[in-house]
Amino acid sequence: EAWEPLAGRTALVTAGPTHEPVDPVRYLGNRSSGLQGYAIASALAVLGARVTLVSGPVMLADPAGVDVVRVETGVEMERAVRTALPVDIAVCVAAVADWRIDGVSDRKIKKQAGAPPPVLTLVSNPDILAMLAAPGPERPALVVGFAAETNDVEAGAITKRARKGCDWIVANDVSTGTNVMGGQDNRVILITEDGPERWPLLAKTDLALRLAERIAAWFGTPVMA
Ligand code: C5P
Repeated sequence: EAWEPLAGRTALVTAGPTHEPVDPVRYLGNRSSGLQGYAIASALAVLGARVTLVSGPVMLADPAGVDVVRVETGVEMERAVRTALPVDIAVCVAAVADWRIDGVSDRKIKKQAGAPPPVLTLVSNPDILAMLAAPGPERPALVVGFAAETNDVEAGAITKRARKGCDWIVANDVSTGTNVMGGQDNRVILITEDGPERWPLLAKTDLALRLAERIAAWFGTPVMA
């Protein structure tokens, strides 16, 4: 019989980038592949959790046994996340765009000879992780965030954990040359209430299983489903 220590628990994972439209044909985006988030959703499901994966636009197939909700924008992602509540576990892996365009054009913006380029005004997107981590009746028991940093990875992640109010932060170095963004492997520092823990370089799938096992250990005794 399968070892399912998360049977009876529910989990929400966000993954991938968001695309913030400029007009019907253009968007602002980022280089997130969704691989790490999809692997985490899959690992939580393998350990028995009922998983909802809220995914931005990625080129990945739905993980087996996971309920996938596909969205485009940060605002859509926030709405889908709220709809998935309540859950026991939330893991925010998505690279949500920090800003969206204020006043998206409903027509393609035309390039006109001699005219100056358009000026785009940005507004902040909702911070989904901070929303989930805020105290309230629907706060998940365990809220995990990611911190992609290019320098001062550990210090930045410790600050981010406090600022976001989440329980754990998984910090990774995405500086040029690490090949984390889009690559198959990841090296992270897990920040919990007990401080930082350096993990070795792992395949994203192995890192996901290790994190899911760690989450199961945090919950302790399995619930009887
Ligand atoms: O603030 P920053 O983007 O550096 O924090 C990264 C963490 O916050 C990740 O877990 C990411 O999924 C989450 N996040 C979010 N909504 C945002 C921005 C970041 O959930 N708008």
